[in-house]
Amino acid sequence: MQLFHTIQDIRQYVADKRAAGRRIGFVPTMGYLHAGHLSLVERGKREADIVIMSIFVNPLQFGPNEDLDQYPRDLERDLQLAETVGVDAVFAPSVREMYPHQQLTFINTELLTDNLCGASRPGHFRGVTTVVGKLFNIVQPDKAFFGQKDAQQVRVIQQMVADLNMPVAVIGCPIVREADGLAMSSRNVYLSPEERRQALILNQSLTEAQKLFEQGERSADVLTDYVSRRIQLAPFAKIDYVKLVDLQTLSDIREISGESLLAVAVRFGGTRLIDNIVLQP
Ligand code: PAJ
Repeated sequence: MQLFHTIQDIRQYVADKRAAGRRIGFVPTMGYLHAGHLSLVERGKREADIVIMSIFVNPLQFGPNEDLDQYPRDLERDLQLAETVGVDAVFAPSVREMYPHQQLTFINTELLTDNLCGASRPGHFRGVTTVVGKLFNIVQPDKAFFGQKDAQQVRVIQQMVADLNMPVAVIGCPIVREADGLAMSSRNVYLSPEERRQALILNQSLTEAQKLFEQGERSADVLTDYVSRRIQLAPFAKIDYVKLVDLQTLSDIREISGESLLAVAVRFGGTRLIDNIVLQP
């Protein structure tokens, strides 16, 4: 596995691989890797010849009161894990390499970023689309792999790629969970043992709501109220949102008629967790 810190070096690597006819798969991450990240690599290995992973904690997508400084980082451990799943090259730039001067150009995807995490994290998706756009220009992948854990992020990046005619296929991949159902996240390390235990209610309540849906329930109010009430039973949980939205527009719906996303964001102490489930009639 090769490690690159500069844009020039990764570009040279990609140019050589492309000249040899290799299809490039790309997995962007902020590091502190877990099995969720690694599942994207495994998918990439099946669908491309070369898998490049980026590891970059992107300051642009963190709000002023968010966890940029505390965000967990461990490049040595990440490199070992990346190697075990067959990553071909890691691109781990410094902030200075990615933002050498004040960034004045931004990618902004409208409407899709108004609801859900976009509503509670102003500027977050502008930071995500801008850095992913930069990374796509640097790495020039044929396919890029994103986790459905961040369902809004997948949808926003698909829209960006379509709107700006970026020549990359964006592939959404299933949520990877711990054995007890908690969605894997780099932020799970912040949870105290008690918070970690209570956080199981996210997946549990979503799964129960899915059962109600399968039994015929179609009302957004009934399903979101059910999930909210279940989550509120966890004493440490502070709900940011519980929402049922159309999977394409990400805007609120009253009744399920097409593919829909039931999504939650909940704080446990200082840790904000998200989870979701797709409901398909
Ligand atoms: P990060 O949170 O490190 O996640 C990197 C990728 O791993 C994202 O596509 C995310 O959806 C996926 N992922 C995280 N947890 C997952 C899980 N439990 N199951 C499946 N996939 C999971 O998302 C980002 O970084 C950044 O916003 C980034 C796209 C890298 C831009 O900075």
